[in-house]
Amino acid sequence: MCGIIGYVGHREAAPILFASLQKLEYRGYDSYGFATLHQRKIWIRKNKGKISEAGFEKLPGTIGIGHTRWATHGNVEKTNAHPHVDCEKHVAIVHNGIIENFEILKKRLKKDGHKFRSQTDSEIIAHLIENNIGAGVEEAVRRAMLVLGGRSAVVVISRDFDGIIAARTGSPLIVGVGENEYYIASDIPAFLNRTNKVMYLDDGQMVIIEKNKAPVFKDIKSNDIIKKRIITIDWDAEQIEKGKYKHYMIKEIMEQKETIIRALNQDSRAIKKVANEIDKAFGVFLTGCGTAGKVCLTGEYIFSNIANKHVNYVTSSEFPNYKNFLTKKTLLIAVSQSGETADVLEAVKVAKEKGVKVISITNVKGSTLDRMSDYTFLINAGPEKAVASTKATTAQLAILYLLAYSLAKNIDHGKRLLLETASKINDMLNPRYEEHIKKIAKRLHRKKDIFIIGRGFNYPMALESAIKIQEVSYIHAQGFAGGELKHGPIALIEKNTPCIVLTKGEDDHDIISNAMEVKARGGLVIGVGPKRYGVFDLWIKTPSVGVLSPIVNIIPIQLLAYHLGLFRGCEIDTPRNLAKSVTVK
Ligand code: M6R
Repeated sequence: MCGIIGYVGHREAAPILFASLQKLEYRGYDSYGFATLHQRKIWIRKNKGKISEAGFEKLPGTIGIGHTRWATHGNVEKTNAHPHVDCEKHVAIVHNGIIENFEILKKRLKKDGHKFRSQTDSEIIAHLIENNIGAGVEEAVRRAMLVLGGRSAVVVISRDFDGIIAARTGSPLIVGVGENEYYIASDIPAFLNRTNKVMYLDDGQMVIIEKNKAPVFKDIKSNDIIKKRIITIDWDAEQIEKGKYKHYMIKEIMEQKETIIRALNQDSRAIKKVANEIDKAFGVFLTGCGTAGKVCLTGEYIFSNIANKHVNYVTSSEFPNYKNFLTKKTLLIAVSQSGETADVLEAVKVAKEKGVKVISITNVKGSTLDRMSDYTFLINAGPEKAVASTKATTAQLAILYLLAYSLAKNIDHGKRLLLETASKINDMLNPRYEEHIKKIAKRLHRKKDIFIIGRGFNYPMALESAIKIQEVSYIHAQGFAGGELKHGPIALIEKNTPCIVLTKGEDDHDIISNAMEVKARGGLVIGVGPKRYGVFDLWIKTPSVGVLSPIVNIIPIQLLAYHLGLFRGCEIDTPRNLAKSVTVK
């Protein structure tokens, strides 16, 4: 949520900030802005909407900051776009996060005579710094950070300092290390085409990057200096480009030909060790949000069916309500593509306070979740840029299957099944297949509702299907457990209302009965699965993979969502109102 970039070096900052911010646009895209420092003066440009070149090239200087916004406090207006400045323009700041005590702070600052230009909570940071500017800008930033409630990442330039000062109390910030130049950003793709060497800023830390000097990391509370290591990231810049594809989403869907195999590239000893922990634990929870949450819910079925083990899924934002059930014997498995989702991190924090061991499944090495966990499985999917999660979903599922098969003392069999599934996906994802789905999308794209039903393993995937269709095509879509339809939602079925039915190709009698119930009320039944049942008006074939059917069934729905979005002229990779990593609660 909100993308931040900063640059200190020997080159013109504005073009670098511009290019980097474009790479961060998936984090927020309602407005954007830049500030540079030149001859002890701060130069600012901001605008509403997605990043365009208007005015950015006129900013002079080799030090600067940029921001792309996902609005929380204050409308989508130019005045609310970052950077924000204090009354006397001593500093310009960009911020990602939410300041929970902003009303009290703003009231106090107003009383002290500060004049506000925006409706944002972020602007108060500039005024808080101004209040202490007499102590020097570094100390003023530190003091401001000490009073901010909530989770924040802040990057500051000042007319009195030849560099950048940044601080983190919850939201991510990473320093990119170049040749006598430094970047600071909320995500690695911002500077990956320039350097893959990084230094992580942990919670409660700040960094002072002065021109021609090495960065100095400090603890915000104690002001003590902290030593940091430079870490090399093994993603390459090409992975974050669209290549021959029109959108990241379709590129990432197609990458599932390889990503499931890459997800299986885990240390078997670690899989066995964690499976053993799951076995020993008294109470195992899975937690995640949105799509990752649906992966966790599938995990309940995976562990129950394959390993006869009871695990509980709790959506991360509700997890704190379960704290009374947590003990030192509990195990928490947190699933998050980005590893930066605030609700997930909060769940992990609550668990850790109770002495719970935390295992994470994430795509981003060095992410906050990775660093908070006792053990991390990296899904190895490569950067996922489209807001709609696709390849991360199936890779996360693959790891849950591996763990369950290991728990059932059958890991080799599990691996074999997953590899077979990966090869069937490779065959499935051909141009003819996509064309077939495109035709179905054409038929459905003007519908106002789409329902999706599934049972067992495919029930969570029905919920996930709804998320995909909603966020990419803006069609109202809802997923249900097949058996639930008759308890209420069936009232919504009218003549030709589309209902997608997820099947396995075996033991499908109950879900087929539910499909019949829809058909009997005039619904248009679209079957997904290995067998073409008579009740289907339209059919999308998926390979027969038994208990692994969630992995293969969700892929055609991802394609369907993509083509629905295209037919409806939607912003595929950056859907309205959304952002890739949701770093606010
Ligand atoms: O990075 P995370 O996996 O923690 O993200 C969780 C959700 O915000 C995410 O899955 C969201 O639901 C996606 N936009 C769905 O496609």
